[in-house]
Amino acid sequence: MRKKVIAGNWKMNKLPNEAISFIEQLEPLVKDCENEVVLCVPYIDLFYSLLYAQKTNIKIGAQNMHWEENGAYTGEVSAEMLKAIGVEYVIIGHSERRAYFAETDETVNKKVKKAHLVGLNPIVCVGETLEQREQGKTIEIITNQTSKALEGLTEEQVASTIIAYEPIWAIGTGKTATAEDANSAIHEIRNEISKKYGQNIAERVIIQYGGSVKSTNSQELFSMPDIDGGLVGGASLNAEEFSKIANS
Ligand code: PGA
Repeated sequence: MRKKVIAGNWKMNKLPNEAISFIEQLEPLVKDCENEVVLCVPYIDLFYSLLYAQKTNIKIGAQNMHWEENGAYTGEVSAEMLKAIGVEYVIIGHSERRAYFAETDETVNKKVKKAHLVGLNPIVCVGETLEQREQGKTIEIITNQTSKALEGLTEEQVASTIIAYEPIWAIGTGKTATAEDANSAIHEIRNEISKKYGQNIAERVIIQYGGSVKSTNSQELFSMPDIDGGLVGGASLNAEEFSKIANS
């Protein structure tokens, strides 16, 4: 049985004091949650979030990292740095980073490898644009992004990579993929992994859905057989709303 992982992606939102009060508010609401609850916060909030999430079941993640250990990369943060302060998860290749910050399948792959090497759990985002969807290319795009992200990993590393299927047209738009569509896309991603690494490995990979997840649709989405939780943007900014999604 795969566990479900519900991860909030705050994007560029919340100051440290807001992160602290959010965690204080969220903690009692998710303390009996059976799903893994993760908050992926801005770099500046990481330390405070880790401090306040200590002794709770809330895990803390970053939203990006660099693949090099150190060096002349102004403005970047390495996987080692994240690991050193106790970060457990990291989002890699979010569509906003691919679109606005020149993230490519190649840099995504380097980051995924590095995350595993230092013991961070990568959440790798894949997803098609509306245009690609209308051209019938969804499966081709998302299976391709998945294979490239996983290239060169060991079977164990593949099994412990989290994939987030996030159709770009559903992110922040209020348009959610139907539970059936999301499940079938995720099923295709799992099939692709199965073809390359075998069914046992594929059955262990946690694959989330992301794109306008809210408390009113999370139950239906997360009860689909292939959907192992969600990556939640806008709805993760409110502790009560996020707790309802996490407890779905
Ligand atoms: P959304 O964002 O929930 O606001 O659509 C999801 C994401 O970008 O991870």
